Amino acid sequence: MLDYVRLRPGMTLADIGTGDGLVGFRAIERAGASIRVLMTDISAPLLRHTEDPFSPLLLRCRAAQFPDTEKARSLPITNYGERDLVRFAIDAGFTDIHLELHIEVRTEDSLPWETFLRTSPHPLAPSLEEVFEKESTRDERAYLEVRMRAIFESGAQLGAERIAYLTAKRP
Ligand SMILES: C[S@@+](CC[C@H](N)C(=O)[O-])C[C@H]1O[C@@H](n2cnc3c(N)ncnc32)[C@H](O)[C@@H]1O
Repeated sequence: MLDYVRLRPGMTLADIGTGDGLVGFRAIERAGASIRVLMTDISAPLLRHTEDPFSPLLLRCRAAQFPDTEKARSLPITNYGERDLVRFAIDAGFTDIHLELHIEVRTEDSLPWETFLRTSPHPLAPSLEEVFEKESTRDERAYLEVRMRAIFESGAQLGAERIAYLTAKRP
């Protein structure tokens, strides 16, 4: 969406229905601190989320690991879904295609924090450690680590595992 907004330093962006501020904070990341973003939402709890200094820092990490760029959108490793599987099967000439998608949402088995810091969510993404080093000041890193580590070590973090089973007939 932000590709269609010509962001310029000094401008004001109205982000109506901002949710947790994903688009608004990303606009600030892209255009720099001189733009103003007006965030509104019908949901007070979501808006309170945007007031927490943790949110923009967390979104900055997410943006570094999942960049919203043309390249990322064109690569299967960063932009891939079960519809692609169906498309590949059709293109390969299969018929009677059946796809079952299983999504398991449960609390994640927790890795030691130090290990988690050195892992990345997909092969093209930097690790959290690298993101901290490149994108954060020392104070931001210390603040992020305390907040993220508390969530991580609480064991309450939910993770979703998706498995797609596809069967098809080759005529
Ligand atoms: C699909 S979410 C999108 C959130 C965010 N813009 C994003 O891209 O991540 C839609 C948001 O619009 C908000 N919303 C729905 N109706 C609204 C209204 N009448 N006025 C303001 N916000 C509204 C919802 O509370 C929700 O946060």
